[in-house]
Amino acid sequence: MTTRLTIALIYGSGREGRFADTVAGWLEPELAGFSHYDIVRIDAAELAFTPGGLDEASAALVESRISQADAFLIVTPEYNHAYPAALKAIIDSCFRPWHAKPVAFVSYGGISGGLRAVEQLRLVFAELHAVTIRETVSLAHAWTQFDPAGNPFRPGILNGQLAMLMSRLAWWAHALKTARIATRYDEVAA
Ligand SMILES: Cc1cc2nc3c(=O)[nH]c(=O)nc-3n(C[C@H](O)[C@H](O)[C@H](O)COP(=O)(O)O)c2cc1C
Repeated sequence: MTTRLTIALIYGSGREGRFADTVAGWLEPELAGFSHYDIVRIDAAELAFTPGGLDEASAALVESRISQADAFLIVTPEYNHAYPAALKAIIDSCFRPWHAKPVAFVSYGGISGGLRAVEQLRLVFAELHAVTIRETVSLAHAWTQFDPAGNPFRPGILNGQLAMLMSRLAWWAHALKTARIATRYDEVAA
């Protein structure tokens, strides 16, 4: 599996003072170590929202990055047993560009480590013809897992979980990319 893959790294929290930045401080340098991936970022904090979802310019940007991607890594917190509204607006901003592509999750939160948000996202992505990866990285009581400088207390465990998740994501990304090239997904069921 040597073909380069483009992965869209999606941050679902746009909250001021968000913990997402601490997660990103660990995650992004680790991802840079996977040298056969190109990363494009979609960050809720950098997008403009209207009551109906993303504004036109943000929607166009998100759609172009989702179209470009072979796979998705979603970084999501849990808000009231679900995922953030900003993430839903990102997801809902387009339809076909998600099709026949894999989605993996890094989640964080309180006691559940964001896993309840992830389970809901699996239902959403089924509707978008996307495949969710079983492996997750989940940070329970996330704020207790990093020192004040943002270094994880258990880097071996976290990095091992991330490596497993990225291996599975790459397998699905290659398999589905090959399949999409062989047969256009939207032509198989008219
Ligand atoms: C509105 C709100 C609701 C929350 N609900 C939950 C929850 O149901 N379960 C949980 O484990 N943590 C919950 N939390 C804690 C967040 O998951 C935690 O603060 C996380 O760091 C938020 O991510 P962010 O700072 O990147 O936005 C909630 C936080 C907020 C702000």
